[in-house]
Amino acid sequence: MKNLVLVGFMGSGKSSAGRLAAKRLRMTFVDMDDLIEKRHGQTISQIFAKKGEAFFRHHERALVRELSAGQDCVIATGGGVVLDPNNLRDLSRTGVVICCWVDARVAHERTKHTKYRPLLESTADRLKQIETLLRQRESLYKAIPNRIDTSAMTVEQQADEIVRVYRGKTQAGR
Ligand code: S3P
Repeated sequence: MKNLVLVGFMGSGKSSAGRLAAKRLRMTFVDMDDLIEKRHGQTISQIFAKKGEAFFRHHERALVRELSAGQDCVIATGGGVVLDPNNLRDLSRTGVVICCWVDARVAHERTKHTKYRPLLESTADRLKQIETLLRQRESLYKAIPNRIDTSAMTVEQQADEIVRVYRGKTQAGR
């Protein structure tokens, strides 16, 4: 089975809906950030603080290459995976890439009590930071043809939609 790759901004439900979709599809769920944390023995925040963002992006890139070589997985990427176009190229080769879109206000609502996202921690005005980052990345997310607007969806609805899109892409032409 082709991988199912979820891309999208922080708070777009990649991990929670992805986990549920993997269960429904009987595929293995992989959360890239969790795997990076496990392998480094440090949280993403600690990696950003001690080694810097470039170090994190380097390891994110290496993990994309590794996961793109496999199959049968639902992969929840980190929100910044789109920043390197090589990542999407590799992930698309062996997987169906689905972008989970989320509006800035909803992303803010969903992430405002979390403390594990370094790009949102260092700012006094989180909403403004989300709007800025989302504006910078919007064209990258919107260039992905399979796109779901998750802003008004529950996690269950989002998982259903992810499964529907994935089945449509993998069963087409059979
Ligand atoms: C990031 C998103 C995070 C994590 C890191 C950087 C980003 O993942 O990879 O903090 O650049 O948007 P989530 O999208 O899972 O929060």
